[in-house]
Amino acid sequence: MYVCLCKGVTDSAIRDAVDAGAESLRQVRDQLGVASQCGKCACVAREVINEHMESA
Ligand code: FES
Repeated sequence: MYVCLCKGVTDSAIRDAVDAGAESLRQVRDQLGVASQCGKCACVAREVINEHMESA
């Protein structure tokens, strides 16, 4: 599903970035652009990151 509509970033793309070493919303934003425009997706993006880091 799309987490960030502005940048067209999906939850699986965020999980891939975490698998590749990103450890925070900021790092994922730097890589994918998520939450860099309107910012509405920041909470959901952070949840996806945290959940995936906990399950790793
Ligand atoms: Fe992600 Fe707007 S939906 S920056």
